[in-house]
Formats: sequence, structure tokens, C-alpha cells
Amino acid sequence: MSNVLEVTKLNTAFWTPEGDVKAVNDVSFSIRRGETLGIVGESGSGKSQIFMSIMGLLASNGRATGSVKVAGTEILNVPTAELNKIRGARMSMIFQDPMTSLNPYLTVRRQMTEVLMTHKGMTEAEAAEASIRVLDQVQIPEARRRIGMHPHEFSGGMRQRVMIAMALLCGPELLIADEPTTALDVTVQAQILELLSQLRRDTGMAIALITHDLGVIAGLADRVMVMYAGAIAEEGSVRDIFKRPQHPYTEGLLKSMPRLDAHGLTRLDTIGGQPPNLQSLPSGCTFRERCPYAFDRCAAERPLLRETGEAGPDGFFRAKACHLEELGMANKPKIGVVA
Ligand SMILES: Nc1ncnc2c1ncn2[C@@H]1O[C@H](COP(=O)(O)OP(=O)(O)O)[C@@H](O)[C@H]1O
Ligand SMILES: [Mg+2]
Repeated sequence: MSNVLEVTKLNTAFWTPEGDVKAVNDVSFSIRRGETLGIVGESGSGKSQIFMSIMGLLASNGRATGSVKVAGTEILNVPTAELNKIRGARMSMIFQDPMTSLNPYLTVRRQMTEVLMTHKGMTEAEAAEASIRVLDQVQIPEARRRIGMHPHEFSGGMRQRVMIAMALLCGPELLIADEPTTALDVTVQAQILELLSQLRRDTGMAIALITHDLGVIAGLADRVMVMYAGAIAEEGSVRDIFKRPQHPYTEGLLKSMPRLDAHGLTRLDTIGGQPPNLQSLPSGCTFRERCPYAFDRCAAERPLLRETGEAGPDGFFRAKACHLEELGMANKPKIGVVA
């Protein structure tokens, strides 16, 4: 099966006066055509910077190494002119705050038509018709009238839809959605997720869905990549990860998901402690200081991401970066936490 995106040994660091911040550490993964990959992890775990590196949008103190291929073409650190042939056209990115992609001073019509006139050589009239079709596709009512409005005239959820429409204009094969619903209230959140799921069905595009919220992943993604301290802690199909997490961090994330029970909404067992300082990562496993299962080897040796040998029923392989053979109630090691 062909991949829309292949990332190999991506390392991203930021220079600061206090030392380099190692935001992304040896991350390799791919996204298949039409697939939705969820990228989940606590704030600061490197989720956004993976994709900012891929999109060539790193802050000026950042530097990425490794390889990023889109449909077979290397795009990491290529000149902007070359990157611009891929960005927007083959992959585009949306953010938590729609105003990072929208210009407050221009009408939506002006912003959308400009993209199509530049990239597709359409006339203004053609571009306007095509833009209205995309606004219809993201279910903005009365698109023909509203296209003449400025971004601030739309409600939060509608503005998010306008941003999604902008991202879809050139028919990308991959949509990168970075916390697209985090700033929205729960009802609107659900509507936007439903829209993404429908767009995916209608267009066949792949989606990289970045979120700190496992609940968002559950409804939309096929596969999940769990990030910790800039590295992949575990990956597998959504079903396998939820049913049987194999990394203690994933288990902790699942246990800390708010859930509805007889007592109302409760949040159980938050993971104690803090993620490590990315300027001086500890030796061994970066999760060990928070891990209830840590043993000697975890301090001595950094666990590499390895396949666990079991492919789920849906054929997705599983991998984890953990020295434990297996995680399960029956296999809880009797060794205490190594301080
Ligand atoms: N320009 C920058 N300079 C220094 N550190 C940065 C910069 N941008 C991001 N970082 C750091 O990189 C780490 C990963 O950030 P990010 O990928 O944005 O996390 P998240 O998982 O919340 O999306 C964080 O510790 C963040 O502080
Ligand atoms: Mg982020």
C-alpha cells in the first residue's frame, strides 16, 4: 500500500541560550493513503513540532534533520520554492486558532480565490465558484452570501470550517489537523470532528490528527501514535491501543481519561510527576521516573521502539518503546519504582 507521507529519523532541536531543546527525537512513521493517524500525548511532547518540521514552518531557532518524503519526494529542508509546490497542494495544515491561517482584514472570498488563482491559474469568477463549492462542502450555510464576509463575522465553529475550507482548496492528499477542536465547546467540537470524518470519506484524503485528548482519537483515527518527551512511546491501531495498552504511559493516559459513571463525570488516576526537561533528557527511559513498573534496566538503557510481534485483527502492526515484555494485570512486576 502506498504512503502519502514517510518520515525517517526525524530529529528537531531548538537552540536556546540555556541549551538545545530536543523537541523531536528519532521519530519515524508513515501515513497511508486515506488513513487517519492520531498523534496523542501531553502538552510539550513534540506533537506539533513534528509537523511544523514536515511543513517547513519551524521557528528560526529550530533545526530538523532526517528525511520527510511526500509521495516519494524528499521535502525536508528543501528550498521554499520547492516546498511550496507540495504545501497546500499535496498537504495542508490547520490549527487550533483559525486566525493563524486567516487574514482578519480580507474577505473570505479574497483569501480563497487568491489561492486558486495563484495555484490553479483560475480566473476570479472561476475561483469564486470553486471556493463556494468548498464552503458548501464544509457545510457553511448560505456560502454564496457568506463568502463576502470577513473572518470575524463568523462564529468560532464556522471560522474553523472556513479554515478547513482554505486547507481543502487544492485537494490535498494529507490534511494535518493540529488540535483542531481544542478551543471549541463540546457540541461544536463534535460537529467539527464529524465534518472531518465525512470529508475523509468523501475525498479519500489522509488525516494526521494531533490532540492531547484520547477521546478525540477514539472517534476518528484508525491508528495512534503516542508521543512522550519527543519520541514515540507506542503505536498501534486505535482498537488495540484502547483495549490493551502495552506502554505504561499509554495505560496512564487511558486511566486519566474523564469518564461518565454512576457518580457523574470523574477523572481517575492522573499520571503523577512531570515530563522530563527536554534540554537534559535523563539516561535510560525518559518515562521511568513516572512509571509504576520501572526496574533496573529502565535506568541503564533507553528502550528503542520495537515491534511487539502481534499485529491486531485489522493488520496494523504494534510497537512500543518499553523494556517490559508485557503490560497486564497478571504481569505486574513486583519490583518497585527506581528513584
Ligand atoms: N521556538 C522554540 N524554541 C525553544 N523551544 C521550543 C520552540 N518551539 C517549541 N519548543 C519546545 O518544543 C517542545 C515540543 O513542543 P510542541 O511540539 O509544540 O509540543 P506539543 O506536543 O504540545 O504540540 C516543547 O518543550 C516546546 O517548549
Ligand atoms: Mg501542539
